[in-house]
Amino acid sequence: MERSYSLLLLFLALFSLKSFNLLCSAADPTDGFTPVPLTEANFVLQKPYNGLDCSSGVWQFEGYGFVPNGTSSVTVAQIHGAFHGATTLILRIYDGNMRYYSGDLVATDPYDKWFRLNIIHDVDGGRLTVFIDGEERYSTHDQGPGDLYFKCGV
Ligand SMILES: *[C@@H]1O[C@H](CO)[C@@H](O)[C@H](O)[C@H]1NC(C)=O
Repeated sequence: MERSYSLLLLFLALFSLKSFNLLCSAADPTDGFTPVPLTEANFVLQKPYNGLDCSSGVWQFEGYGFVPNGTSSVTVAQIHGAFHGATTLILRIYDGNMRYYSGDLVATDPYDKWFRLNIIHDVDGGRLTVFIDGEERYSTHDQGPGDLYFKCGV
């Protein structure tokens, strides 16, 4: 049975968890997802993954970030867990660019403005897709199944 969910998070504030029926390439990355409320129990500092099983199905993280000018070598979002290694995804700022780990370029000019970040992890299909302000910016294979959870913030 295919399952897809979306985590909607304003950094340090909580919004909703979404489940959905059909993943399709639509104008907005959240199209087709249905919101599911999160409770306080889902947000323990450093362990917001408590109670959520992201190890199968299709999951989406949504949040809004702000990177102050001059910030470099910092991680803004991650997917922890993988079949091999510790993480499936790291989005990091290096000298004014957002990169997949320290490699592929995901976005330029991230400084001093709020941006909307959407990450879709198709766990069953082994695929990651990253959106900035609703536009697809990066897609790659994942790192295999694991004890997966999203993490955001520096
Ligand atoms: C960031 O700071 C540098 C150095 O002061 C400046 O040249 C640049 O215009 C600033 N960028 C933004 C987006 O404010």
